[in-house]
Amino acid sequence: MRVLVVGGGGREHALVWKLAASPRVDKIYCAPGNPGIGELAECVAVDAADNAALADFAAAQKIGLTVVGPEAPLASGIVDVFAARGLKVFGPSKAAARIEGSKAFAKDLMRKYGIPTAGYEVFTAPDAAKEYIKKQGAPIVVKADGLAAGKGVVVAMTEAEALAAVDMIMRDAVFGAAGARVVVEEFMTGEEASLLAFTDGRTVVPMVSAQDHKRVFDDDRGPNTGGMGAYAPAPVVTPAILEQVLNEILQPTVDALRAEGCPYCGCLYAGLMITAAGPKVVEFNARFGDPETQVVLPLLASDLPTIMEACIAGTLAGTEVAWRDEAAVCVVMAAGGYPGSYGKGDAISGLDEAAAAGAVVFHAGTAGKDGAVVTNGGRVLGVTAMDDDVLKAIAKAYAAVGRISFKGAHYRKDIAHRVVARLGK
Ligand code: AMP
Ligand code: GLY
Repeated sequence: MRVLVVGGGGREHALVWKLAASPRVDKIYCAPGNPGIGELAECVAVDAADNAALADFAAAQKIGLTVVGPEAPLASGIVDVFAARGLKVFGPSKAAARIEGSKAFAKDLMRKYGIPTAGYEVFTAPDAAKEYIKKQGAPIVVKADGLAAGKGVVVAMTEAEALAAVDMIMRDAVFGAAGARVVVEEFMTGEEASLLAFTDGRTVVPMVSAQDHKRVFDDDRGPNTGGMGAYAPAPVVTPAILEQVLNEILQPTVDALRAEGCPYCGCLYAGLMITAAGPKVVEFNARFGDPETQVVLPLLASDLPTIMEACIAGTLAGTEVAWRDEAAVCVVMAAGGYPGSYGKGDAISGLDEAAAAGAVVFHAGTAGKDGAVVTNGGRVLGVTAMDDDVLKAIAKAYAAVGRISFKGAHYRKDIAHRVVARLGK
């Protein structure tokens, strides 16, 4: 089978890496890909934002399965374009992808179907939003309705911050049309975890749980980022909590989307807060998480393209999805200045030495220049290690990180600290 992967970050490198391990896959293309992906796949310069051009490519190259990484093409309907042309594609339709693309849609769906999440109201006018904030008081959370590259959420510890967030999102429109509506939401406390699931629109099969590290500095300090690292499994998701998330959140959400006339096929990502009152939804994503994918897929023991085809065919119930009893840790190495402004084009050394140390180095923001690999993004690399216990995986990942250098490189030294604390080590 020939496979096309859409996207070019660390998540897509992990997808390509796992797909390449399948005996059923003969050739992988990736649009646009990156130098790390280029070692496993042919990177093609088709515009990843042009759904029709991607479908033309898939038809011409006789692609048997297309896997979509990022949210933007899903939200703009890539799956509908492919399906209309009879091309097999793993991901939700445009209508189903609203679960990520519109926070108001997701919240209203959860309210209608009794799926546990923070209390909220949706506003289309700033004054009404502000009145509600003054009535509720802080802490409170203000979210732009639409896609804002993960930056549209303000967790306000004071009322003034929340009011300023409304102005930033609605009056100054820093996220454009994504901020035409805001969701103002109750502040939840607890430990966060990510649970991704395969679904064919009816059957839901959870993956191993994971935990992301969103703040840039150790001890969860500093500004939010796209994710500075991750590990799997996340022990906060005990077998009992997993059962609860499956029965009270994932399955009801998939059933609700089907009942609403937009059945969901693909990877459904639930961002969870494990509160004192049980797990509640922070957000849904219509795609694999980044960097969660870099730790979840290495633990998958079954054949990924077979599972994806079963999701498309509606036969997931009869398909084996087995996991290795191991742990995986991913440490993100970021460019100097990230998540603020940062430079590009700095030479990266030590990639082969890191691999020799037993890690898999997923490329996130890299480019090729005169035969060398250079930095090309804020999150540059996701250095990932697997082992039979998490402490060994942490040691292996950091040993590999120590072999890599580029100008201004920084990374968190405490990835998986919560599980270390739980173990009392
Ligand atoms: P989101 O993009 O919706 O995942 O929000 C980004 C981050 O903001 C989450 O990972 C949480 O850390 C935080 N957050 C979002 N909603 C809430 C909430 N209702 N209560 C507390 N923290 C939240
Ligand atoms: N790791 C967070 C996300 O993928 O949205």
